[in-house]
Amino acid sequence: MEKLPYKFDDPARQICFNQFDLPQPWINYLSNGKMHAFVSQAGGGMTWWLSPMVFRISRYRFYNLPIDSPGFYVYIRMEDGTVWSPTFRPCDTKVDAREAAHGPGYSTFTAKKDDLVASLKLFMAPDHNALLWDLRLENESGEAVSCDVFAYVELSQFLSQQENILGYYLKWNTRAVFDEELQAITYAYTAWMHPRAEESPLVYFGSSARVDSFCCDRDQFCGNYRDERNPVEVEKGKLSNTNLQGGEPCGALHSHQILEAGEKKHLHFYLGVTEGALADYSKAVRDTQVTLGTLRMPGAVDAQFAKSCQWWHDHLNVLQCRIPDEDAMRNINTWNPLQSVQTARYSRSISSSASGVRGIGFRDSAQDMLAQAYRKPEWAYEMLEYLASQQFEDGHPVHIMWPEENRPAQDITRSDNHLWIVYLAYAIIAESGDLSILDRQIPFLAPDMMNHTGGASLWEHLLRGIDFTEKHMGEHGLPLILFSDWNDHLGPFGRRGKGESIMVSQQLIYALRQMTELAQLRGEQELVVKFTARIKQQEEALAQYAWDGDWYLRGLDDDGKPVGSHTAQHMRIWLNSQSWMVICGAGKKEQHIHAMDSAKAQLDTGIGLLLNTPGFPGWPSQEAEMANGLPAGYSENGGIFLQANCWAIIAEALLGRGDQAWQYYKQVMPQNVIQKLGVERYKSEAYAYCSTMLGIANEKCGWGCVSQVTGTAAWMDVAATQYILGIRPTLKGLLIDPSIPANWEQYAVERYYRGCKLSIQVENPDHVQHGVKAVTVNGKSVDLENGAYITEDILSGCHEARVCVRMGERR
Ligand code: GLC
Repeated sequence: MEKLPYKFDDPARQICFNQFDLPQPWINYLSNGKMHAFVSQAGGGMTWWLSPMVFRISRYRFYNLPIDSPGFYVYIRMEDGTVWSPTFRPCDTKVDAREAAHGPGYSTFTAKKDDLVASLKLFMAPDHNALLWDLRLENESGEAVSCDVFAYVELSQFLSQQENILGYYLKWNTRAVFDEELQAITYAYTAWMHPRAEESPLVYFGSSARVDSFCCDRDQFCGNYRDERNPVEVEKGKLSNTNLQGGEPCGALHSHQILEAGEKKHLHFYLGVTEGALADYSKAVRDTQVTLGTLRMPGAVDAQFAKSCQWWHDHLNVLQCRIPDEDAMRNINTWNPLQSVQTARYSRSISSSASGVRGIGFRDSAQDMLAQAYRKPEWAYEMLEYLASQQFEDGHPVHIMWPEENRPAQDITRSDNHLWIVYLAYAIIAESGDLSILDRQIPFLAPDMMNHTGGASLWEHLLRGIDFTEKHMGEHGLPLILFSDWNDHLGPFGRRGKGESIMVSQQLIYALRQMTELAQLRGEQELVVKFTARIKQQEEALAQYAWDGDWYLRGLDDDGKPVGSHTAQHMRIWLNSQSWMVICGAGKKEQHIHAMDSAKAQLDTGIGLLLNTPGFPGWPSQEAEMANGLPAGYSENGGIFLQANCWAIIAEALLGRGDQAWQYYKQVMPQNVIQKLGVERYKSEAYAYCSTMLGIANEKCGWGCVSQVTGTAAWMDVAATQYILGIRPTLKGLLIDPSIPANWEQYAVERYYRGCKLSIQVENPDHVQHGVKAVTVNGKSVDLENGAYITEDILSGCHEARVCVRMGERR
């Protein structure tokens, strides 16, 4: 097996790199919730405030060669003129040793050249909107060393799309100067046509060290026909003290340093923003002075780092497990929940392969927040409330929104969007027990897609969503697919307005079951009756039309012909309608097993399940049109779509087939795919899921595409913790329902639940895959009559509880 370019340090929750020229940037996100950055293993990356589209602070060239630049660069120039960096980019100079690591909320980069060690740690200050650069220099020799240190960042014109198309005009709206009083560079983008001009920030780049020279002009700094690899001003050893009124801005700060024998020094750089530069410039400068004053206080940077680490510690600590599989344990305890935070923040918008202009997707964020609902229900609720405010009065919502960008949302009516918020509302209430959120008043979206009208309770919003589906039923009594359902590319089967979606029917049933439980708790008996009837109607329609003999169809097209049938030449079988049949609980278990077995036989590639097969051949075949021109094997055209794999895992777990669920879980773990295929083929991060891997019909099968920003993050998190480990919040309490590999002897989960710390120990002496025989909480037996629920009553008054679970067949 090829040597891996990284290894994991589990106690430190780090991934440590030993190779830096990876096939694509492997990034880490740094954020305090408002100010954000990503940085790669090579030091490439960018930073933005609130929105990567409107307030992009530093630049990143998405289509650049070499890839992954610019970034957050520190140049160290030795007396003999050699220039090197703690990060792999930008200098080509060979160093004697190099390391880099990503951890939750920070990245570190260390290089050693001769006897000088330079180590850079980047993280976002929790209390200030500033990216902190903590640079440590250590002279390991017995003699003094003198060197020049330069910190450099290329600044952006905030509006990323405008900058791309009109940057050559708009560069006259830039002003970057060295402010003597602040001892920092300040930068303002002075265009009043900015959609949020009043808030438009003052960017600052300051240092804890004496500034010996500076440069605010990128082209001056780099020199004619050069780039960041060998900037002429660094080569000269001194910057030109150039300010900039129009042009391409940058922040470059220089400090000459002498390190005595054995001496260690700390230098800090602060790249931050202060709101309101255009509205009140001198106030913004004064506020910046206060911030810089605070950050320059002794110990301030370390204290900010400790606070950032604490945030992550608390977040991850909500659920931690001990299982007999190190790779998966690391994934469940650290990397998967970490990625779920990123998707909760960034939806599908920004990564090294997503340029930050996509806004947030309604259904995407509703799903992303499922992984927060059990860790931070308040955070998930904030998003839920926002999403509900994006529903029109008829119950259907817009599809994509730009909450930070001051622009109207986009409405192309999908058949599924509104259903996803039912699951989110349920998940939040299941965790918190707080039904009252359903009574909160939330406005509807006005037809202009900017303003709001009226308002109704969250409960009413959910009801209108359900009603929207009821009012959009097709001839066979199944929901119309409308523009498309969860599968963006499936719409063409229903372009004439008659196609129906089996997946949406399954989703509707699942939503109705949750709504029924909620209605029961609210004492709304008529709704319970109504929902029960609707479920029955859908179940009957599915029983009549969905079964194809060996699996379930995916839909019926405009002519009522089956989609996803053995009779078709392409797209004979689709994964989602198999797994969602199990999830929604319609139909019979034997048929579920039959369908899931067919899915395995037809779709399992050994590195993941295909979304459908066989895909349409790529262009120039006639059929390529049906797949929207996608090449065979990519994404929804016969690709390994990872989010759909999560639902298959959940379905297998629900069927009690723990071994199968585990095989599906393990085989798509990036770490596993890399071990099988190698980094050069998979390309993507070993610690974050990508959206899709190319399927068998593509020469590059196994290539992980669109990493980081994918619904896989949240769903895999939910699949692992709630369905495999089986610690599942429900309205009745915390359900203990493991579906594990039979060879697991035992496992343990620490979980905070409604203010109580649960230490759950699960024993599996009979080596079953599913089934709970006995549960005790602090020594007292739990009645298993209706399932192993740990209710609030059982926990009442406890801050800590020992939960012992014994798996096995129940007689
Ligand atoms: C992407 C989209 C998501 C869609 C999925 C399948 O992940 O963001 O909304 O459901 O693709 O088409």
